[in-house]
Amino acid sequence: MSRRVTLIPGDGIGPEVTVAATRIIEAAGADIEWEQVEAGIGVVAEYGKPLPDQVLESIKRNKVALKGPLTTIVAKGFASVNVELRKKLELYANLRPVKNVPGIQSRFKDVDLVVIRENTEDLYSGIEHIVAPGVTESMKIITHDASTNIARFAFDYARARKRKKITAVHKANIMKLSDGLFLECSQKVSEGYPEIEYQEIIVDNLAMQLVMNPHQFDILLLTNLYGDIVSDLCAGLVGGLGMVPGANIGKEYAVFEAVHGSAPDIAGKGLANPLAILFSSLLMLRYLEMEDIADRIRNAVHKVTLAGKVLTRDLGGTATTRQVADAIIAEL
Ligand code: NAI
Repeated sequence: MSRRVTLIPGDGIGPEVTVAATRIIEAAGADIEWEQVEAGIGVVAEYGKPLPDQVLESIKRNKVALKGPLTTIVAKGFASVNVELRKKLELYANLRPVKNVPGIQSRFKDVDLVVIRENTEDLYSGIEHIVAPGVTESMKIITHDASTNIARFAFDYARARKRKKITAVHKANIMKLSDGLFLECSQKVSEGYPEIEYQEIIVDNLAMQLVMNPHQFDILLLTNLYGDIVSDLCAGLVGGLGMVPGANIGKEYAVFEAVHGSAPDIAGKGLANPLAILFSSLLMLRYLEMEDIADRIRNAVHKVTLAGKVLTRDLGGTATTRQVADAIIAEL
């Protein structure tokens, strides 16, 4: 019986890259039935909001979704759809493996990092006030439960994948209570995993260390905002935002999406790199225990990247999104 998965094409380059990914997944023989639902700026006129109820209902029914990027509406009154999805579905863990891909030029070789970002609180709680004219306040919410949950997720992930070290990232020298609590929970959880080395680093030092020598890190464990920023930095280590996948995982549901956004500067031009969403789909296929198909697609991608002839502009090539998908399908 085929597995039904929710598909959200998204805004900007979303439809271009998700179509590339779903064509490749289909060509690889995955028995997936896509239930396509629309979210984002394109549906606001019709539904009055960017996240219509049927999108959440579809994900709740199917448990798993593949999602293109959604543009964040800057106007007041609209919460970020991405943040809302993560909160409403309790997708508390954001997992972003960052690895070099064979044949792709980048500043470093042999980078193999995993960014694990808390996905539901911190400054993304969206609680803001005008205290007085000219004075604003944004709440950084850090709780014992969310910090413990994400630390446990990171250590369980490390144990399952035989990874060696977790580095908790903080600014507890300044935010003694909030980041202090995050560290306290991480330390406590780490005691249950004596085989995994645990260390801590201040976020500004981490930024410098990552661009000097990313090989010293294995798994990075971060609160929401630091995780958001550090994910993009890490993408830059391995060829850019067109290369890095992501997964939002909760106890019941999982939504797979690239780290990148809707890239309005290149949307509709066929220039977008489909590899980031395709690699996110591979995380999804593994989550669905379709390991063989994920391996087949990965091998086909590597043949294309190693040959180096059909690459999008961000990777130094001239191919379109569709041509990259066609080349991978030809290898399959
Ligand atoms: P962005 O990630 O969309 O783009 C940053 C830069 O990277 C741009 O120059 C873009 O052309 C390039 N880029 C991104 N993906 C690419 C790809 N697949 N191939 C080639 N080049 C690529 O970040 P930006 O411009 O800050 O955000 C645009 C919108 O996307 C905003 O509304 C933002 O809130 C939203 N966003 C949504 C996310 C999501 O749905 N998960 C994640 C990040 C941003």
